[in-house]
Amino acid sequence: MVGDTRIPLGPSPSKIGGILSMRPKNLKTRIFIDSGDPGETAKIMDMLGFLDGQTTNPTLISRNPEAQRILTERGFSKNEIFYFYRKTVEEISRMIPKGSVSVEVYADKSTTAEEMLEQGREMFAWIPNAHIKFPATAEGLKAAERAVMEGMRINMTLCFTQEQAAAVYAATKGARKGNVFVSPFVGRLDDLGENGMNLAENIIRMYKEGDGHVEVLTASIRSTDHLLYALSIGSDIITAPFKVLKEWAEKGMPLPENSYNYRPELKEIPYKKTDLSRNWKEFVFSHTLLDKGIERFSNDWNSLIKNK
Ligand code: G3P
Repeated sequence: MVGDTRIPLGPSPSKIGGILSMRPKNLKTRIFIDSGDPGETAKIMDMLGFLDGQTTNPTLISRNPEAQRILTERGFSKNEIFYFYRKTVEEISRMIPKGSVSVEVYADKSTTAEEMLEQGREMFAWIPNAHIKFPATAEGLKAAERAVMEGMRINMTLCFTQEQAAAVYAATKGARKGNVFVSPFVGRLDDLGENGMNLAENIIRMYKEGDGHVEVLTASIRSTDHLLYALSIGSDIITAPFKVLKEWAEKGMPLPENSYNYRPELKEIPYKKTDLSRNWKEFVFSHTLLDKGIERFSNDWNSLIKNK
């Protein structure tokens, strides 16, 4: 993987509302941390001087140090783990009251749209700044379609194909800008030998033909190269793990030139001309990583449950 060495801009501290903000002046993309640990939120806010939001998911919650401690001692019941998740996102929400906090519903392969929606409604009431994560599966999209009609903010996760992103667009038409995110998982596609960043670029290009109601949140970021390239292609939002954001901060929060030189040795994912006016149910959205992703999230969540 080759990264660009021409990194022209460093952060310029400026005063916003009396608070010292280190947000780089020309940074348009919102930066989220991908973590289930409020301790990391606090540390990264300290390092960056700003943070626009946070994404969580069942795997990240299962890695939360306090969850791990409780698991070693006794484990959780089903209700206790939801309560733990709630307390965790409440703490995060208090730290970034003006940001967005993504909270993911539990879904395994047999979870219905109705069950997801029910969880989503409950989680949406936990904090004032939630985006509810539904998987970009047929059931998740059904839930999303209803959720946006109810005014819920959502983040469609586990996106591995342009068709899934097209279906997200079509299923959520009419939603307010800012209420819908789609999360392409770039790192997991890289793991398969495909250039995951192509997916993010293709979705951004496809959405240029639309009304702009869905924002692209580039996820499953594994390196500063990913981060800088996602900045250069104009991703609306990027969520990155603590380690990557820390590295970026240590380098002085560089911003890339217009075209960041990112040429990984991975198979290209070609762009597909897509008609966004179609009914979302007409799009085919199967992918081997989608099934695996659902399995991993549900297994990690269930691994915390010891007392039924
Ligand atoms: O936000 C999505 C992210 O948590 C998935 O990342 O590294 O498990 O593919 P990863």
